[in-house]
Amino acid sequence: MPYYSDDIIEEVRSRNDIVDVIGQYVHLTKKGSSYFGLCPFHNEKTGSFSVTPSKQMYYCFGCGKGGNVFTFLQEYENMTFSEAMQTLADRAGIQLPETEMTSAQKAKSAKRDKLFEINKEAATYFYKLLYSDHGTHALEYFQGRQLEPEIMNKFGLGYSDKYSNDLYKYLQAKGYSDDLLKDSGLVTIDEVKGGRDKFWNRAMFPIFDAHSKVIAFGGRVMGEGDPKYLNSPETDIFDKSRNLYGLHLARRTRADKFILCEGYMDVIALHQAGFDNAVASLGTALTSGHANLIKRFGKDVYLSYDSDGAGKKAALRAIPILKEAGITCKVINMEPYKDPDEFIKNLGAEEYQKRIDNAENSFMFTIRMDETKFNMSDPESKTAFYKKVATRIVEFPEELERNNYIEAVASKYNVGFENLRQMVNNIGVRQGMGSRIRDDEVEPARKLKSGVQKKISKEEGMKTSQRLMLTWLVEKPELYHIIKQYISPEDFTEGIYAQVAEILFQQFEESGMANPARIVSMFAGNDEESQVAEIFNTNINGIEGQHDWEKAIKETLIRIKENSLEQRKNAMDPNDLDAYNYIITTKKKIQEMKSLKVSVT
Ligand code: GTP
Ligand code: MN
Repeated sequence: MPYYSDDIIEEVRSRNDIVDVIGQYVHLTKKGSSYFGLCPFHNEKTGSFSVTPSKQMYYCFGCGKGGNVFTFLQEYENMTFSEAMQTLADRAGIQLPETEMTSAQKAKSAKRDKLFEINKEAATYFYKLLYSDHGTHALEYFQGRQLEPEIMNKFGLGYSDKYSNDLYKYLQAKGYSDDLLKDSGLVTIDEVKGGRDKFWNRAMFPIFDAHSKVIAFGGRVMGEGDPKYLNSPETDIFDKSRNLYGLHLARRTRADKFILCEGYMDVIALHQAGFDNAVASLGTALTSGHANLIKRFGKDVYLSYDSDGAGKKAALRAIPILKEAGITCKVINMEPYKDPDEFIKNLGAEEYQKRIDNAENSFMFTIRMDETKFNMSDPESKTAFYKKVATRIVEFPEELERNNYIEAVASKYNVGFENLRQMVNNIGVRQGMGSRIRDDEVEPARKLKSGVQKKISKEEGMKTSQRLMLTWLVEKPELYHIIKQYISPEDFTEGIYAQVAEILFQQFEESGMANPARIVSMFAGNDEESQVAEIFNTNINGIEGQHDWEKAIKETLIRIKENSLEQRKNAMDPNDLDAYNYIITTKKKIQEMKSLKVSVT
């Protein structure tokens, strides 16, 4: 990855106005000193997404995503930081300094560019063939599968001709070398017979990456035949386990879940029926690479795998992989049909939507599959089933979650809550998790909840106070001279707040101004941009008029100082004289603050 200096990053950032950039993707309306629109990162009907020109930042009050122009392109276009840099530099007409690439890296990157080009040429070629005299049969095939012209275009469907070296000759005439064509996976080169196409006489499905570039193909026999589908081999630009069919379209929808299915035709049929959040793995089982890809787009999953035995097995394998990546999934039941394509053909989109609404929790699906392996009318086998279930429940790290599942299983499978809980505990203890699930810890959910909540809300309150102070500093820079007399960056005790405060104070000292968007850049790469955005976009309602403002600022200031003092006291060595002196002076200072006169305009 190229290295850019802070100065060039800042130049590129400051020359791309955030309202202009985001305005190209999101419809924004001005309200007060900010712009608002529908958040592109979560599904909403009210516009919680704000873009503030004075801060050059965006922040969604609904889902908490935020950052500067770089973060936006990274999140929305799924670009890397360097790609966002390059795009915004181009946009502002800034020439980026030549980055250091070794000659091997240069060659590799040039080759990848060529492979993208070749795949694009091939896709255009297959597409044109489909609508030529040669493609009649293929066109009829697609029509027979009830695809409409519009959706065929959207997915760039095509046809590979009957001749065995048709594409080869076409690409050769364009000047591509045999070596390169071989590496594209579209052609094999035989020393004697010359070049031969990988795909012939097949209905062609171009495979796009997340940026809508063609990287490979799937080709289906029209009718019966083996293999039914043929896919491009893996190449320098095609990694099966890091791409999903339909992703380039599905990522643009605001649905918070992807529908994950098995086949190309399933994805296309779902999109045609209006479910444009459908994706499929590329003729392979789901991998952790896929799961991480899904996670990058911040989506959860509805599994819509085939309802036959193989499909169920594949679902059972996919669930833990998704879970491992932190993705929640629900399972769609398509019985009595085999796959989403057939389901929709027979029952239509509305029925499919009902199946989505009734999708089964993945844990309940898993144990329902377990159940089929036991004979529930035989007491011994039935006990073995409950044991199996209990072993699975033990896996949930949180007590509340375990109890919720015990409750769900107890009511569905007609077993006593206490019996099952005991079984779970025993297994847990045996597995050496004794300390995690003790009997006396199993409190009624109500009690547990209120206790926990109280603690969280105090912490949350302090966090909010510290964020408020930092937001106010940015919005009312004249406060800095007052505030710096009483608090310093170390008084911000929450997570990254102290670091952010440190940089902010420094900016004020150096230029008398705040530059929050620059601070976001400094936290890039750690997934902390949203946190920084939150810090600078904290508001409380109900402050009206000068008197209220002055009171709120003063009280927040005191609260932050008192919290910081308390934390120091707790960490202090009783014999440390310096610490002792610090406490005395700070206490005096807090007294002083209470009669402080803050004035804001
Ligand atoms: P249609 O019969 O066209 O509706 O296909 P389908 O999507 O219902 O097919 P199926 O459920 O049999 O297969 C799902 C996916 O697995 C396909 O979209 C392909 O990606 C892949 N696949 C199916 N058959 C083959 C095969 O013979 N070879 C390879 N490599 N992949 C296959
Ligand atoms: Mn099918």
